[in-house]
Amino acid sequence: MINIAVLGYGTVGSGVVEVVETNKKQLNKKTQQELNVKYILDLREFPGDPYEDKIVHDVDIIMNDPDVQIVCETMGGTGAAYKFTRAALEAGKSVCTSNKAMVAAHGTEMLEIAKKNNCNYMFEASVGGGIPIIRPLMSSLCHEYIEEIAGIINGTTNFMLTKMEREGADYAEVLKEAQALGYAEQDPSADVEGYDTCRKISILASLMLGKTVNFEQVYTEGITKVTADDFAYASAAGYTIKLLGTAKALDGAYEGEAGKPEVSVKVSSYLVPVNHPIALVNDVMNGVFVTGNMVGETMYYGSGAGKLPTASAVVADIAECAKHVGENIKVFWDAEEAKIADYLETETAFYVRTTADAADAVFEQYPDAMNIIVDGRNDAAFVLPVMKEKDFVAFAEKLGDKLLGRLRIYA
Ligand code: HSE
Repeated sequence: MINIAVLGYGTVGSGVVEVVETNKKQLNKKTQQELNVKYILDLREFPGDPYEDKIVHDVDIIMNDPDVQIVCETMGGTGAAYKFTRAALEAGKSVCTSNKAMVAAHGTEMLEIAKKNNCNYMFEASVGGGIPIIRPLMSSLCHEYIEEIAGIINGTTNFMLTKMEREGADYAEVLKEAQALGYAEQDPSADVEGYDTCRKISILASLMLGKTVNFEQVYTEGITKVTADDFAYASAAGYTIKLLGTAKALDGAYEGEAGKPEVSVKVSSYLVPVNHPIALVNDVMNGVFVTGNMVGETMYYGSGAGKLPTASAVVADIAECAKHVGENIKVFWDAEEAKIADYLETETAFYVRTTADAADAVFEQYPDAMNIIVDGRNDAAFVLPVMKEKDFVAFAEKLGDKLLGRLRIYA
């Protein structure tokens, strides 16, 4: 028998117990093991809960029980979660987690500890909710030179942007709805300011390069400046608006040339052409578009947040651990830090919304700019050509108060 302990009986933790119990026959058959949830750690009591008898309040009961082989960390944060993850791995217990903050900040360290103790640190649920994306990167695409990853990897903001676009919904109202559905982070600024996407794209970029992409160095902006005006112009020009995390391998990325930046990683709201597959990813769904040098374009799609989809990904890791008890599965993610390009030196195309009298200034600087026409408006909007981010910053300064809004364009 393989015993599991779940740390944190919140949305995802309770989902893990539900998935294990509901799909027990299938899980046992496919792993050729008998899986059992032995403990659930939480500070709270759960009177009347069907698994009430499994609740414990002292983590040492779990850590000191040699019969617990797998621990699910679904607590979130990097405080107690860090301490308990370390303790479990040091005791030779595999840890499966949905905690992207932990993986982004301490993934390298936890993978090392797991390796030393012949167990595993697994984090399929940390990016893209229920989408299998970590394992494809580690396994099916391991031989590829990945050229680019672009992902909608935050369900809350995708849900919000979709509702804003389709229903002209109010920002605060939609955020409340996302919270009620259990999608949003405790502090929703992690979602709307792009920090959650930043951690997730850093995890994917680390797996892409096999080095640590430090999320603190990733240029990040969220959806807070996206307005109904931007949706009107974007739609007229054949675009939708999505919050993307992007990681682009730069020339020589895989040769490790001394001193050269290896990867450009950004989080930003982008205009995305409506005929791009990623533009079709709506509501709470996530989509990750991965381009490999041999396979070409691939895409992974599924629920990006929510109890059962996220729990399902944690249980996929439980199954993998159950099949490899006492054995460490190699993960290509080294402690060496990847060299991230200064975002100001990277290139992108921009959309700008300006006051109506700024057209001359725009065309003077960018004769190839495309004017987006929407009848009855008293402002103006343009698609600008690809340029260095630092050149756009200089142009934005020149426009001053005439610049009303700007977004990047994904192509
Ligand atoms: N707040 C996150 C999201 C939860 O909306 O994607 C899943 O990581």
